[in-house]
Amino acid sequence: MILLYYLIKAIANSANLYAFLLVLILNLSSFPSLTWAATDVSVYESFLQCLQNNTNPQDNISEIVYYQTNASYTSVLEAYIRNARLINSTTAKPKPLIILTPKQISHVQASVICSKKVGYQLKIRSGGHDYEGISYISDHPFFLLDMFNLRSVQVDVKNESAWVQTGATLGELYYTIWQNSKAHGFPAGVCPTVAVGGHFSGGGYGNMLRKYGLAVDNVLDAQIVDVNGKLLDRKSMGEDLFWAIRGGGGASFGVIISYKIKLVLVPEIVTVFKVERYIEEDATDVAHKWQFVAPKTDNDLFMRMLLQPVTSKTKKKEKTIRVSIYAFYLGNADALVSLLGKEFPELGLKKENCNETSWIQSVVWWANSINITSPKDLLDRNLNSANFLKRKSDYVQTPISKDGLNWIFQRMIELGKTGLVFNAYGGRMNEIPATDAPFPHRAGNLFKIQYSVNWQQAGSTAENEYLTQIRKLYSYMTPFVSKNPRSAFLNYRDLDIGVMESGKNSYEEGSVYGFKYFKGNFDRLVKAKTAVDPENFFRNEQSIPTLPSKA
Ligand SMILES: Cc1cc2nc3c(=O)[nH]c(=O)nc-3n(C[C@H](O)[C@H](O)[C@H](O)COP(=O)(O)OP(=O)(O)OC[C@H]3O[C@@H](n4cnc5c(N)ncnc54)[C@H](O)[C@@H]3O)c2cc1C
Ligand SMILES: *[C@@H]1O[C@H](CO)[C@@H](O)[C@H](O)[C@H]1NC(C)=O
Ligand SMILES: *[C@@H]1O[C@H](CO)[C@@H](O)[C@H](O)[C@H]1NC(C)=O
Ligand SMILES: *[C@@H]1O[C@H](CO)[C@@H](O)[C@H](O)[C@H]1NC(C)=O
Ligand SMILES: *[C@@H]1O[C@H](CO)[C@@H](O)[C@H](O)[C@H]1NC(C)=O
Ligand SMILES: *[C@@H]1O[C@H](CO)[C@@H](O)[C@H](O)[C@H]1NC(C)=O
Ligand SMILES: *[C@@H]1O[C@H](CO)[C@@H](O)[C@H](O)[C@H]1NC(C)=O
Ligand SMILES: *[C@@H]1O[C@H](CO)[C@@H](O)[C@H](O)[C@H]1NC(C)=O
Repeated sequence: MILLYYLIKAIANSANLYAFLLVLILNLSSFPSLTWAATDVSVYESFLQCLQNNTNPQDNISEIVYYQTNASYTSVLEAYIRNARLINSTTAKPKPLIILTPKQISHVQASVICSKKVGYQLKIRSGGHDYEGISYISDHPFFLLDMFNLRSVQVDVKNESAWVQTGATLGELYYTIWQNSKAHGFPAGVCPTVAVGGHFSGGGYGNMLRKYGLAVDNVLDAQIVDVNGKLLDRKSMGEDLFWAIRGGGGASFGVIISYKIKLVLVPEIVTVFKVERYIEEDATDVAHKWQFVAPKTDNDLFMRMLLQPVTSKTKKKEKTIRVSIYAFYLGNADALVSLLGKEFPELGLKKENCNETSWIQSVVWWANSINITSPKDLLDRNLNSANFLKRKSDYVQTPISKDGLNWIFQRMIELGKTGLVFNAYGGRMNEIPATDAPFPHRAGNLFKIQYSVNWQQAGSTAENEYLTQIRKLYSYMTPFVSKNPRSAFLNYRDLDIGVMESGKNSYEEGSVYGFKYFKGNFDRLVKAKTAVDPENFFRNEQSIPTLPSKA
């Protein structure tokens, strides 16, 4: 009966007939996880109706809607998946019923209103770099709002500001700033394909953080579509919500359309270098001293240190640890060599290790892992292939002793593949109060650790092996890192540290991961959330819960 009803309805519209036939075929082939039930078709129809009702009649709204039977559905879905673990995993989650690709703000407003109306969760994706993929997967049936069409960047050089839409990548942002002014830059992340939406709302950082703080420390205004489909700016959203979307994660509060940012000054010449050491050289001394120099040195200098288990250069059958220091300096090579000659003689830095270049070329240099050569390459949105990967994070507040480092190196060699990245804090980060934005990891932190493991083999054997390995290293690190809470960086999303059980809205559960990501700022986020989205429409595996109403 139900099928007959849809057949009659579908004949009225040939696009729907196509959908109907596919539904029928899929149903008959009993492919449980892919099956589109007849009820889904009716959801799709009333959703489309609602979209039409809530947008400009001249817009052909069906052009922004991809449902599961559409031939382009899979390529649209996978275009911004950056972690193969989440598409090709043996434990793959349900896919979105519908993908929405708004071209205008009014399409976003209608998408929110209509998803709420048909009772579907809405996940928001900008660049899809979330390490756990929570922008595009869910345990519950859901729609995906994909922001890639909303990516304009408008630079106002005179005012040293810019409006950037959340679907823009950092590469597009940096390139556009550079096209408009050679004297300006912006302090955000070093991976050009990360997008503004997740990166800024999660408190993004890059290699200018010791000089200028985080991306969110340089945000002046924002536009957001709230749960009622209203478009708000800083003035109309109020300071609590504006505070929350500068590091509290956008997806708990609404759909962020754009941020207005304050551009920062960069000199004509900046300097970068990479220096490597192995244990059999003096890697332990270098790594030990780095902890005393990198968080305290001149604010113009940022030094990232990578620790990786690799095959020994000299004894080919043995594993060792390679320590690599990547640096960015807002000044010339002579000044840098002289500074580090005094502060860090163990490094033995020479001018020929340094590369003097422009700020935009330094952006290209820092993105070297994806093999790009010119500023124009920053506009390429498809530079990364999707590896299988897992990341975790920690903060270090007291330097690790040489014995401690050697012990960690041995554990890393035993485990085999998991690397650590130490990112120095200090400088401007120490001056900004921990309550200024939801991101709480300011004075008192020497550096942040990122745990990192990538693999190429599909399947649960490899997945289990590498997940176990990175979790073991995290456990070994317990004595060396922050405690009560053991804190974590929201943008290095890690579902191991606690999740909101699907469909629930519990302060208890939310506070498990909430205090790790936000420390003392968590309760203010809960208040802001309760005020703007009391029904908890905008939710995910680690969203901010609301407080129960006192009624
Ligand atoms: C290769 C790589 C390099 C990285 N380098 C850095 C770095 O240098 N510095 C750093 O700080 N981080 C870095 N990260 C982490 C990165 O900042 C976060 O993963 C960030 O959240 C990604 O943003 P996105 O828009 O690309 O991701 P998405 O997966 O699209 O979004 C991430 C989260 O934000 C939400 N969201 C996205 N857009 C919106 C919006 N418009 N409105 C509301 N909510 C939204 C999503 O729902 C999801 O919860 C890196 C990640 C990768 C994979
Ligand atoms: C769309 O608008 C029409 C006319 O106002 C109304 O009858 C119909 O119920 C609406 N449909 C939806 C799904 O909102
Ligand atoms: C897929 O969806 C897009 C956007 O709505 C539409 O333009 C296209 O015609 C659809 N293709 C198929 C095969 O249904
Ligand atoms: C609207 O878009 C759909 C899907 O792309 C297409 O099939 C249809 O012809 C379009 N209708 C109009 C009036 O342009
Ligand atoms: C997922 O696996 C399929 C089949 O092995 C393969 O064709 C596809 O490229 C894989 N996708 C990714 C992103 O690894
Ligand atoms: C420049 O910025 C200031 C402060 O944000 C603002 O008051 C002024 O209107 C801006 N000027 C222009 C031309 O946008
Ligand atoms: C400096 O960096 C540029 C850009 O990455 C590269 O082309 C050049 O070879 C580098 N020079 C040195 C001396 O490393
Ligand atoms: C980098 O790109 C160049 C030119 O496209 C290519 O020849 C080279 O093999 C690439 N290197 C790596 C490591 O991918």
